[in-house]
Amino acid sequence: MNKSAITIREMREDDLSAVRGLAEQLGYPISLADLSQRFAWLNKSSDHKLFVACTDAAVIGWVHVGKEMSSLLAADRADIGALVVDTQVRSQGIGANLMMAAEKWATDKNLKLMRVRSNMKRTDAHRFYQRQGYEIVKSWHLFTKALRDSER
Ligand SMILES: CC(C)(COP(=O)(O)OP(=O)(O)OC[C@H]1O[C@@H](n2cnc3c(N)ncnc32)[C@H](O)[C@@H]1OP(=O)(O)O)[C@@H](O)C(=O)NCCC(=O)NCCS
Repeated sequence: MNKSAITIREMREDDLSAVRGLAEQLGYPISLADLSQRFAWLNKSSDHKLFVACTDAAVIGWVHVGKEMSSLLAADRADIGALVVDTQVRSQGIGANLMMAAEKWATDKNLKLMRVRSNMKRTDAHRFYQRQGYEIVKSWHLFTKALRDSER
């Protein structure tokens, strides 16, 4: 693929069907209705930004970056909510470009630290983040508890 033909821009409503396909590649199957609802909410929040990488023909990657909820114990920081590049076009710098857009958004918001949580089993992605200058600082367990029967 011709690299110069790849653009990073803000996600739009009409990208969502492609975004949904890529979410499935990431391991998060989601209905278009749920995706649309969350997109509408995130898209109007000044604490979140969604970017896509695209060619003239298709959306081939996306990233969600957000400001983490304020805490008593830590300064405000940014967080990567999700990042995925189409399997067909990996290793061409598209993930790096999406991260650059996310980092620029966070820097413009005056956030001083970016955090990414990545499943222990995503060892390829860990290599990618380390190449982007990220360091592993902690490994932890994620605990959840269903609060309604429907979540079980
Ligand atoms: C991680 C990911 C976003 C990187 O996107 P990308 O466009 O391939 O990234 P770049 O081209 O900028 O960098 C490529 C580097 O990422 C790493 N990499 C991670 N996963 C890879 C994959 N599945 N295929 C190729 N390279 C991968 C390699 O170090 C690679 O360098 P190399 O080609 O010299 O070996 C992409 O591989 C992906 O979508 N993976 C699956 C989803 C995922 O794990 N997301 C992160 C969740 S925390």
